[in-house]
Amino acid sequence: MNLIDGKATAAAIKAEIKEEVEKIVAQGGKRPHLAAVLVGHDGGSETYVKNKVLACEACGFESTLIRYEDDITEEELLDCVSRLNSDSNIDGFIVQLPLPRHINEQKVIEAIDYRKDVDGFHPINVGRMAIGLPCFISATPLGILTLLKRYGIPTSGKKCVVLGRSNIVGKPMAQLMMQKQYGDSTVTVCHSRSLNLKEECRQADILIAAIGRPDFVTADMVKEGATVIDVGTTRVPDATRKSGFRLNGDVKFDEVAPKCAYITPVPGGVGPMTICMLMLNTLSAGKHEFYN
Ligand code: GUN
Repeated sequence: MNLIDGKATAAAIKAEIKEEVEKIVAQGGKRPHLAAVLVGHDGGSETYVKNKVLACEACGFESTLIRYEDDITEEELLDCVSRLNSDSNIDGFIVQLPLPRHINEQKVIEAIDYRKDVDGFHPINVGRMAIGLPCFISATPLGILTLLKRYGIPTSGKKCVVLGRSNIVGKPMAQLMMQKQYGDSTVTVCHSRSLNLKEECRQADILIAAIGRPDFVTADMVKEGATVIDVGTTRVPDATRKSGFRLNGDVKFDEVAPKCAYITPVPGGVGPMTICMLMLNTLSAGKHEFYN
C-alpha cells in the first residue's frame, strides 16, 4: 500500500507557484490577487477561508478577506460581487459556501464574472469543463486529477467509480475522469440510492468517495489493488482533541488501506490539494490563461 501525501504534494506545488509569481513580478507583471468573501461565522468556513489566505501568502499572492455578518441581505452580497467583478486589482474571487438560507446561492454564483470565478462554479465554467474547453476547473476534482498524475497512477481505460453526485465534487469528477484529455476512464457514478452499491464499488480500479458519510466505504467494497481517493471531511465529535472534533473521511481507512495500491489519508490527502488548486486557478486568472 502506498500513501498519497496530499500535504507534501500541495507544498511542492505552492513552492512552484511562488517561484513563477516572483518571476512574473520581477518582469514587471502583476502579483496575483485573490479575494475571499466570508458570510457569518460557520466554523468550517472560517477555517477554510483562513487557510486560503495563508496559502495566498505561501504563493506570494495578494489576498483580501471581505467579511459580512449572516444578516447581510442578498442584494448587499450581490453588490459586493458586482464591485469585485469590476475591480481590476482583483484577479479572482470566491464566495465561501454555504451561505445563510435567506440568500440564493445559485444566484450569487451566477453573478460572479466567470473570468474571475476561480472556484469554477459558474455555469459557463461548468459547461466548458464538461465539453473539454479551457476554463476554471473546481478545486477538489482538479486536486484529485493532479494527485493521480503526480503519483503516476494509470487511469486510461480503467474502471472508475465516483461515490457521490454533488455539483462541487461528484459531478465534475465523473466528467473529468471520463474525458480523454484527463482520466480517460470508464466511469460509473453511484450515490446513496444506488442499487448494488457494494458490487459497483468492488469493480473499481479507482474509487473516489465523496458521499459525506464517515467510514461509509468498508473493506468488502474495495477490490484488491485498487486506488482509493477519500474526499470526505466530516467533523465528528472527539473529546480527546482540543477542538472537540476530528476530521473523518468517507473511507474506513484502517481496514481498507491494506487492500489498496494507493490511498489518500484524511486529513492530509485531498484536503490540502483543494486549496492548492484554488491557488493554481488564481495564478491562471492573473495570467489570463483561459479568458481575456
Ligand atoms: N465550501 C466548501 N468547499 C468550498 C469551495 O471549494 N469553495 C467555496 N467557495 N465554498 C466552499
